[in-house]
Amino acid sequence: MTALGKLFRTTAFKLSFAYLLVFTIFAFVTLGYVAWSAQRLLTEQFISTIEAEINGLSEQYRVGGLRRLVNIVERRSRAPGASLYLVTTNAGERIAGNVGALPPGVIDRPGQFETPYSRTEDADAGPNHAIIRVYRLPGGFRLLVGRDVEERIRLRDIIHRAFGYSLLFIGILGCAGSWFIARRVLKRVDDMTETTREIMAGDLGGRLRIAGTGDELDRLAQNLNDMLDRIGELMHGMREVSDNIAHDLKTPLTRLRNKADEALRTAKSPDELKGSLEAIIEESDNLIRIFNALLMIARLEAGNAREGLADFNAAETVRDVAELYEALAEEAGLPLEVTVDEDLPLHGSRELLGQAVANLLDNALKYGAQAEGSDAFRSITVSAHRIDGAMRIVVADRGPGIPEADRGRVLERFVRLETARSRPGFGLGLSLVAAVARLHGGALTLEDNEPGLRAVLVLPLGNAQASPEPAQTAA
Ligand SMILES: Nc1ncnc2c1ncn2[C@@H]1O[C@H](COP(=O)(O)OP(=O)(O)O)[C@@H](O)[C@H]1O
Ligand SMILES: [Mg+2]
Repeated sequence: MTALGKLFRTTAFKLSFAYLLVFTIFAFVTLGYVAWSAQRLLTEQFISTIEAEINGLSEQYRVGGLRRLVNIVERRSRAPGASLYLVTTNAGERIAGNVGALPPGVIDRPGQFETPYSRTEDADAGPNHAIIRVYRLPGGFRLLVGRDVEERIRLRDIIHRAFGYSLLFIGILGCAGSWFIARRVLKRVDDMTETTREIMAGDLGGRLRIAGTGDELDRLAQNLNDMLDRIGELMHGMREVSDNIAHDLKTPLTRLRNKADEALRTAKSPDELKGSLEAIIEESDNLIRIFNALLMIARLEAGNAREGLADFNAAETVRDVAELYEALAEEAGLPLEVTVDEDLPLHGSRELLGQAVANLLDNALKYGAQAEGSDAFRSITVSAHRIDGAMRIVVADRGPGIPEADRGRVLERFVRLETARSRPGFGLGLSLVAAVARLHGGALTLEDNEPGLRAVLVLPLGNAQASPEPAQTAA
């Protein structure tokens, strides 16, 4: 497409063209009105002068008779100007005046009208136009007073010229203006197109230029940049997940393969083979669990779980989960102390909150069992209370706790501390709790229970929707 063709197709040009059209119409209407008023004013002036002269001349006729009238008319006729006079007999024969030829019958028509005429001195100059008034004098004579409308024609010509000039002026101004605007806007849009093409071609770090004018194009560029940032974050997250999966699933998969291989090679009896198969199934179950946990976290982080949210009483959920863990806690020799408010209305997912509390309790049992001291001291506490507009779920144990430096790191996928190596687990529990907290617009923080770990889950109560910009959870 040629540059001009491109220009004609731009919105800016179309808009400018529309404005140009409106301005032209406006100019025509204004000038037309001015012309019409000026013409009317002139005509009115002509008529009133004619009227006044008729009155004066008929007065002279009344006082001084025909001779006096003819004298005055002769004198005035000789004076140069646009004034026209004619005195005729009843039959229309000319007595005095500067009007030569008139269309037939004009002199018999009393009253005022416009007519072509010619002057006595230049009869062959062609007919001019005049406004005239014919007055019947007592005694049958006719008096005609008129005004040449040449002036009016000249005025019309001036206005016609003004029309032409203003049209030309508006045209030039409009074209230049629209060209300028179109070029400016077009240039920036072209830049944006170019940059987006580069970004699409693989330069994902590229961003659109912000002109700093704060106009629509700037806002659009800003939004596109924000969108690119968001996409970048998601891509980064995805890459991290896939890297993690590739890395962390390799070990259990290799183990699985080696176990199967070993069983094939070394098993002597069906019983031994059966035992190996059972171990393999257990390993596979672990893999499935890891996959499920990863998928759930990924789903939460993509915000896909938002649709399934409902209102429920979180207090019941916390109590139910704590109850499930009571037997396990007793077995581990750790008393479980539960204090939960009666009513904690939450808008969210009952299953996910249950899973999150279960994960925290699981950790507390797993790592709290390493605690030393009396049973009462080693107890695990679970509480859920309302604190201004939010609910605070706390799961605390007396185990080794997490050093402050690691409290942010353990929320990441697959991160397990050295001290936890001997315990079963995949390092996904806390990641899921943090993701659930974000889904509910809340946050998970890890604190020192002196000794032990205190996991604090703060979630906004009631109908608080999950905030679109989730709070940071690293503590
Ligand atoms: N209550 C706790 N006491 C001490 N360390 C903990 C506790 N909870 C979590 N951790 C540490 O944080 C790590 C991550 O926890 P988590 O994500 O639940 O993974 P997992 O329990 O599968 O190891 C654990 O491996 C452990 O090192
Ligand atoms: Mg865990």
